[in-house]
Amino acid sequence: MTAKHNVLVINGPNLNRLGLRQPEIYGSQTLNDIIESLTADAEKLNIELNHFQSNAEHELIERIHQAYQQADFIIINPAAYTHTSVAIRDALLSIDVPFYEVHLSNIHSREPFRHHSYLSDIAEGVICGFGPQGYAMALGAAAQLLAQNK
Ligand code: DQA
Repeated sequence: MTAKHNVLVINGPNLNRLGLRQPEIYGSQTLNDIIESLTADAEKLNIELNHFQSNAEHELIERIHQAYQQADFIIINPAAYTHTSVAIRDALLSIDVPFYEVHLSNIHSREPFRHHSYLSDIAEGVICGFGPQGYAMALGAAAQLLAQNK
């Protein structure tokens, strides 16, 4: 069997409140539910999955820096920092690790301030509006990309 690829999943502020937070928008699954299911998917794909969630911008940035030469791919839902953070954009640009941007909700059908992302133009791809399934879609696509590039 070939060496395992390492995929890092990062979730930003308030996503620790999934399940309780605005379920009409974000659904009823908790972040634990989502990560458990993603970990099972990762095992089937022979991928080592690590997960990090923080409500603090500097902690997200530190974790991104740690991924330098450690992670093969990042799946990130930066949550509200999507729309505000040049610093998270710069952190991702500083590590040269490809990433997908994921959002549970369709940010383009919501308030105008959610339509702009500081990350989309530097992401390998963007998935939004598919709920928790978006993470699984991103992982499947990342696995394919990594298998092609190995
Ligand atoms: C979100 C969308 C963002 O606009 C919002 O601030 C979030 C979650 C999503 O997953 O749909 O916190 O990233």
